[in-house]
Amino acid sequence: MDSYEKFIVDLVRVLKVDLSGYKRPQMERRINTLMRSLDIKSYDDFIQTMRKDKEIYERFMKHITINVSEFFRNNSQWKVLETKILPELLKKTPNLKIWSAGCSTGEECYSLAMLLSEKFPQGRHSIWATDFDKNVLMKAKEGYYLKKNIVGIPDTYLKKYFDPFEEGFKAKDSLKSMIKFDHHNLLRDKFPQNCDLILCRNVVIYFTEETKFELYKRFFSALRPQGILFTGSTEQIIRAKEIGYESAAVFFYQRP
Ligand SMILES: C[S@@+](CC[C@H](N)C(=O)[O-])C[C@H]1O[C@@H](n2cnc3c(N)ncnc32)[C@H](O)[C@@H]1O
Repeated sequence: MDSYEKFIVDLVRVLKVDLSGYKRPQMERRINTLMRSLDIKSYDDFIQTMRKDKEIYERFMKHITINVSEFFRNNSQWKVLETKILPELLKKTPNLKIWSAGCSTGEECYSLAMLLSEKFPQGRHSIWATDFDKNVLMKAKEGYYLKKNIVGIPDTYLKKYFDPFEEGFKAKDSLKSMIKFDHHNLLRDKFPQNCDLILCRNVVIYFTEETKFELYKRFFSALRPQGILFTGSTEQIIRAKEIGYESAAVFFYQRP
């Protein structure tokens, strides 16, 4: 076991952070850069520092996760969701059970909540939004967005679902009440069952191929028959057929 591998084992033991499913080169580079900037020379010292200093621990968590998100990210896929996927799903059940896995600061789940309210208001849909980074979850729950970050939201939606404040816009309580936010680690925690739709977009980029494969199998089991997994615009599932998925559209995988 080399020093990086030992660090990964110690991280789980001491801080309950499991990075074993993440691609080593990128993760190692990011961690080493952070350690250099803090003038920490060894992995052991780094773990001890994080144990004592909450701020350093939070910087570490922030550094290893990429939280960038956007409202209606990759708009053409949201159009497919609106015009093809959601109408099909709603033929089977009026009330959709939806999971936004790796929701970051909330742009994805708020986009979804607005879309459902506007276009499919008949049902009592539930949206569960999860992330393993507590800081982003807190921001998502608060729902404050700077002006530069709301560009993807159509004006009509912005007026209806957000209130202005000095530097930007805040999600209205009516919008927030459609979403339940929870802390959840995709590599450790239990998955829900019978989901109609799961969004896992731009989350798996740093996962190893094996980890991705296992994760996509677990998503498959979390879907009800005919349920859909919606992935990011660069994420095609390798061996999707082997797991059992069929293609409903590009980046939309269906459990038959
Ligand atoms: C780039 S953001 C994607 C946000 C949103 N899904 C989108 O597409 O805009 C990736 C998110 O995945 C989360 N993430 C990474 N590994 C995770 C894990 N093991 N469990 C849960 N969330 C994780 C990160 O904390 C981050 O907020």
